Amino acid sequence: MNIPLASQDISDLEIKVVNEVLRSERLSLGPKIENFEKAVCDFVGCKYAAAVNSGTSALHIAMIAAGIGPGDEVITSSFSFIASSNSILYVGAKPVFVDIDPETWQIDPNKIEAAITPRTKAILPVHVFGQPAQMKPIMEIAKKHNLTVIEDSCEAIGAAIDGKKVGTIGLCGAFAFYPNKQITTGEGGILITNDEHVARMARSLRNQGRGEGATWLCHERLGYNYRMSDINAGLGWAQMQRIDYIINKRSTVAQWYTDRLKDYSDLILQKIEPNVEMSWFVYVVRLADRFSIEQRAKLLKLLTQNGIGCNPYFSPIHLQKYYRDQLGHREGELPITEHIGQRSFAIPFSTKITQTQVDYVCDTLKKLIGQI
Ligand SMILES: Cc1ncc(COP(=O)(O)O)c(C=O)c1O
Repeated sequence: MNIPLASQDISDLEIKVVNEVLRSERLSLGPKIENFEKAVCDFVGCKYAAAVNSGTSALHIAMIAAGIGPGDEVITSSFSFIASSNSILYVGAKPVFVDIDPETWQIDPNKIEAAITPRTKAILPVHVFGQPAQMKPIMEIAKKHNLTVIEDSCEAIGAAIDGKKVGTIGLCGAFAFYPNKQITTGEGGILITNDEHVARMARSLRNQGRGEGATWLCHERLGYNYRMSDINAGLGWAQMQRIDYIINKRSTVAQWYTDRLKDYSDLILQKIEPNVEMSWFVYVVRLADRFSIEQRAKLLKLLTQNGIGCNPYFSPIHLQKYYRDQLGHREGELPITEHIGQRSFAIPFSTKITQTQVDYVCDTLKKLIGQI
């Protein structure tokens, strides 16, 4: 067997729509962008969206539109993909990492207030692996301290907490559409918001700082070329027509894994809180406390040799080279993030995986853990 870690779900509809775009005269700045943005707005229930060329770009322009800049601090999680906190660095601000909850692996709201200083401007919660962070306490803390909340929802399109879709709870949110995500545009991202100012800024920033209705060579602010092409947007629009099916199918696959692994004492699964609706991004398990990072490395090697795609997930951001060298971060700062980051890993997950493959992954996993 050869089971990939992730796999996109592309139907004839996506191929038809992308073909239409290719046969049209508008490969960029065309109608598919608006169609895609509207589909995302309708789906999550928000007013505005600005499609861009990556989730990272969406986070970057969110930071600028929210007025975060040099000297500011933004509280976030190190148990995430590096783009979360890089977006804070791009605007000259400082990421301040707060440890995670040991069971849900999400930023621990009980530890946020202790990290607030007079320089804190915002909180960037990450909805890790498609589970929403606990937004109620986060929003309460933000309100009390007059902080902006930007949601890194890149892994969680369609997830909800207390009945509200992620990305719509804070000032704005970002989704990402790399092919391992729930839906894909090849590469791409989108910023969503109910705030008109943020939406206008995002549209200008992604398009070289042009103002609304401005001519091609008229630039009002420092902008970027973060535009999404109509080819990508056509693909994204078609994926949005199928998103309910995709999210449900991913949820079924996650349940297959959970049923097979939940009572297995060598592995610990992510706790899913009762007030959330998951939008499964990856299926991540972690080795029990007695295992070491070296044993995980051995296990991942054996899994790969057995045709099972796998990857450490996540390697804490604060211990990445740049963060150590430039920002002085060291081991021991975030004990729970580090403990879990040394033991957690993703196993194959997509709409395409079959129950037989899930059986094979789980049986092989259990067998190989006995060998490490
Ligand atoms: C939590 C998180 N934030 C941001 C991103 C960045 O998205 P992209 O890879 O589209 O730039 C990702 C994507 O992997 C992510 O998982």
